[in-house]
Amino acid sequence: MSDVASSALILGASGGLGSAMVAEFLNDPAIGQVVAISSKQYPAGLEEYRTAGKLVWLTSQHNERAMADVVDQLASYAGAFSRVCICHGLLHSDTLWPEKRLEDLNGSALQDIFYSNTVVPALWLKLLFKILKGQNPCIIATMSARVGSISDNHLGGWYAYRASKSALNMILKTAAIEYGRRAKNVKFIAFHPGTTDTALSKPFQATVPTGKLFTTEFVAERLAIIMDSAEIDGELSYLDWDGQSIGW
Ligand SMILES: NC(=O)c1ccc[n+]([C@@H]2O[C@H](COP(=O)([O-])OP(=O)(O)OC[C@H]3O[C@@H](n4cnc5c(N)ncnc54)[C@H](OP(=O)(O)O)[C@@H]3O)[C@@H](O)[C@H]2O)c1
Repeated sequence: MSDVASSALILGASGGLGSAMVAEFLNDPAIGQVVAISSKQYPAGLEEYRTAGKLVWLTSQHNERAMADVVDQLASYAGAFSRVCICHGLLHSDTLWPEKRLEDLNGSALQDIFYSNTVVPALWLKLLFKILKGQNPCIIATMSARVGSISDNHLGGWYAYRASKSALNMILKTAAIEYGRRAKNVKFIAFHPGTTDTALSKPFQATVPTGKLFTTEFVAERLAIIMDSAEIDGELSYLDWDGQSIGW
């Protein structure tokens, strides 16, 4: 492991946005090392970074025991992460689909969506506390979504996904308050990437207006800029890709 002073930690690193954040920080000379954690094995194509020691790839399934085990492996990084991106999320799968009406609500789908979108990020915030607390500024950006905004909900539908992101925002707000007391070096951002070309958005891209479907590279660059300019203020900021605040 490493004692590099300014490292980046990407959780959920195999997804469209997770892998783009890995690439963004690998190409950032201000970041000494990138630690990527994923349920998937190391992807082809990044070998040169791993050989050079800039990339460390660790695998962890999405359960608390496995997550705690991988956090144990990060002990030497205590105080070293200046950037953390939590990129987990689920909108659809072979067995679940966003609800259009009340009759579509399904208990096990609700639980699966809440687990991926709310529970997993919450567990990372618990397990990583001792690693992230320190003297150096640390910005944590978690992938939220504008549809998690209660005041912005004019269309309805997508019950589970919307509610899981609203609940995620409340977890982040509550964690920002507690970290603000116990780890004053940490700043929280709930981030809305905009509709981005990934597997998650693929089935819904046909209705996206021209020019409004972002590449993962564009969004990763935007988020890196937003993280660079974030102030350690003990607050949760709910921001879109353009750095604009979103109403709760
Ligand atoms: N794409 C968009 O248009 C868009 C818009 C708004 C918000 N977002 C949010 O951005 C985040 C990333 O989405 P994406 O577009 O990059 O999606 P994606 O390509 O489908 O990636 C999904 C990520 O979620 C993780 N994941 C998959 N199944 C999981 C499970 N059962 N439990 C916990 N984690 C699981 C995976 O992490 P592993 O690497 O560990 O497998 C993967 O990195 C999500 O929170 C999403 O809601 C995306």
